[in-house]
Amino acid sequence: MSVERTFAMIKPDAVAGGHTGDIISIIEKAGFRVVALRKHHITRKQAEGFYAVHQARPFFGGLVKFMTEAPAIVMVLENENAIAAWRELMGATNPANAAEGTIRKKFATDIERNCVHGSDALETAAQEIPFFFSSSELL
Ligand code: RTP
Ligand code: MG
Repeated sequence: MSVERTFAMIKPDAVAGGHTGDIISIIEKAGFRVVALRKHHITRKQAEGFYAVHQARPFFGGLVKFMTEAPAIVMVLENENAIAAWRELMGATNPANAAEGTIRKKFATDIERNCVHGSDALETAAQEIPFFFSSSELL
């Protein structure tokens, strides 16, 4: 077990739906420390860069459109095994497969509009955190 930092996002559907407070409450009650947090309207260029790993996938265009349609909340979270722990609390990509008690089970609409994002590995977190935050914002 080691203390890690992960990049997390409340996606535009959940921010517009008024679930920001509920999701942050779940995060804090689960023992994560919020290291950084900002409301941010992602640009098309940022969305294309952030999800570049998916650029050849058929859902890429829809994903970029969704992620840029309205503001998101970008965050850095800290915890023991934060990367896996946050992925577990988020639930499966498709909310139809998400476990009871997970954020996607509660708030996601479908496989695309799935309310939260989380880094999937240490190396991904190390890229995604500086994508949105400077080191002086990590408090
Ligand atoms: P995320 O990166 O946002 O945390 O989600 P994830 O790891 O659970 O899923 P990933 O495979 O990385 O997919 C990234 C996001 O693309 C959208 N998606 N749409 N229509 C589709 O079949 C489909 N598949 C994925 C979702 O918004 C997903 O979270
Ligand atoms: Mg992913």
